[in-house]
Amino acid sequence: TQNEKESLYIALDFANKYYQEQLWKTPEGESIGQSYFKERGFNHQTIHKFDLGYSPDGWDTFTKHALKSGFALDILEKAGLTIIKEGKDPIDRFRGRVIFPIHNVAGKAIAFGARILKKDPNSPKYLNSPETAVYHKSFIVYGIAQAKNPIRQEENCYLVEGYTDVVSLNQAGIENVVASSGTSLTKEQIQLIRRFTDNITVLYDGDAAGIKASLRGIDIILEEGLNVKAVVFPDGDDPDSFVQKVGSQAFKDYVKNTQKDFIRFKTEISLKDVGNDPIKRAELIKELVETIAKIPDSIKRSVFYKEVASLLSIDEHILITEGNKIFQRKA
Ligand code: UTP
Ligand code: MN
Ligand code: MN
Ligand code: MN
Ligand code: MN
Repeated sequence: TQNEKESLYIALDFANKYYQEQLWKTPEGESIGQSYFKERGFNHQTIHKFDLGYSPDGWDTFTKHALKSGFALDILEKAGLTIIKEGKDPIDRFRGRVIFPIHNVAGKAIAFGARILKKDPNSPKYLNSPETAVYHKSFIVYGIAQAKNPIRQEENCYLVEGYTDVVSLNQAGIENVVASSGTSLTKEQIQLIRRFTDNITVLYDGDAAGIKASLRGIDIILEEGLNVKAVVFPDGDDPDSFVQKVGSQAFKDYVKNTQKDFIRFKTEISLKDVGNDPIKRAELIKELVETIAKIPDSIKRSVFYKEVASLLSIDEHILITEGNKIFQRKA
């Protein structure tokens, strides 16, 4: 109900402020949380911009504090902040981690991502809020509240994988950036971005998983009728590590000089394992035609058929005939 959602927002806002207080105003927050962010190269302004915080390393420090402040236990649980198991005392979901609040478009905290401080094989690197009445993971992108105006201004949205990619790029002066947060991109996330721009540049991690996710993401973006480019980072780098390594200007130059429209991106990546094999080459051409057939706009489709034709030296009309068959089958 609307009433319950309101209570969740209030509890989430309370938690958001609490984690920031813990970071800035407690010895534990300073020695552990602030040091962590410092090691990652995040300055105070950046940390404040994203409301980053710290959750203390106790079983129920937050929950006890919230109860004392008058919050009902069931609301804390429904907000995803407290975990209740039968026959056990309630415990905090986030313990001894640095906190990345997830805001909705209006800037309200709706969930949290919480990073572990040191590698631990028994614990996930990031713990995230569960789905709640106010948090539907596949409908939101991380950073949209901070990015929406810059996206409008730049008429472009950078799409990255991770929380720290968004934060680091902001610190480098690139503010039109949101993260899909590791999950595979959904059409609802693209529809959210489309409220602010028709142009997306995918900046996923420079590893096999990132490239695979870029290829999948591109198809979804095209189906929603947006324009898409993609950048590949050196193997092992993500936008965060790369910008911290090379600096803001070199990062911008790299993106500008290596970004490719989706056709070139797909073609160049696939050509690596296609080589001179004619059967694989035919398969690649079919895949490209299938991708182009996802584009709703016929003029854009024809531009991209031309590009594939010239990149792979094949007759454009064959591509168009095949593509139109697919397009009509879908319609
Ligand atoms: P990455 O593994 O690329 O992490 O996952 P990262 O963002 O580069 O983080 P750092 O630099 O190691 O701190 C990308 C995104 O996938 C989600 C998070 O949103 C993360 O930012 N993810 C990853 C999870 O939700 N849980 C995990 O255990 C790992
Ligand atoms: Mn703040
Ligand atoms: Mn990754
Ligand atoms: Mn990273
Ligand atoms: Mn990463």
